[in-house]
Amino acid sequence: MRKLFASNGLRALVHLGAWLPLALIIADYARDALTANPIQAILTRTGKASLVLLVLSFACTPLHTLLGWHAVLRVRRALGLYGFGYALLHVATFVVLDYGLDLELIAQVVVEKYYIIAGVAAFGLLLPLALTSTRGWQRRLKQRWRVVHRLVYLAMPLAVLHFMLLVKSLLGHPEPLVWAGVVSILLALRIPIVRRRASQLQHRLRRALRRTAALEPGSVFRS
Ligand code: HEM
Repeated sequence: MRKLFASNGLRALVHLGAWLPLALIIADYARDALTANPIQAILTRTGKASLVLLVLSFACTPLHTLLGWHAVLRVRRALGLYGFGYALLHVATFVVLDYGLDLELIAQVVVEKYYIIAGVAAFGLLLPLALTSTRGWQRRLKQRWRVVHRLVYLAMPLAVLHFMLLVKSLLGHPEPLVWAGVVSILLALRIPIVRRRASQLQHRLRRALRRTAALEPGSVFRS
């Protein structure tokens, strides 16, 4: 189990898991099980898959800092790109299937609905990140690459805002609030003082656990 989460196993898990939502959409479409409104179902599912994968990618750095889990850094880019891929499918579903490429109507909806404005802003900010995610671009842009990739700190709250704004009552449907909480924590963990404190706490916990294990080799509950 430890090995699975340490290296190639984690990578395999990420690739398999990331393709799963698309495979399920295709399978449900093939057996006519995409609800009475298949376009809405595809929008919902691709939107959710995108959010989950983007948040997982965003969680990799704090997980590495707090838990010392190095393997997550090797899947961070893949998670981000899969997340962006689903966002692309999500937007394509909206533009092509839902609005039949009617650009005038799309422009009207984009300026009228706040949740669409937030979604477009999130997508627009993620676009340069996805395009410059390769090592080649990292080398070419040098320090500027880091600056470009800081756009994610704006894109993630906007993606969550998009979800929050399209829900009529957050009390009746609190899921977006949960995502807002998770993204807020992940953002807070990037503030240097918070990161340092969390890292110190993690080291103290590890030392305490090691000491307990050394004192009680059989079981931590043995008296
Ligand atoms: C990174 C960018 C984006 C993410 C992460 C995202 C995510 C989501 C999520 C999580 C949902 C709600 C799913 C649910 O109901 O459970 C959703 C719904 C939706 N999104 Fe996005 N979205 C993004 C960008 C966009 C853009 C750019 C557009 C349009 C141009 C858009 C249009 C919609 C629409 C029309 C819905 C469905 C609203 C309804 O249920 O009637 N999204 N999106």
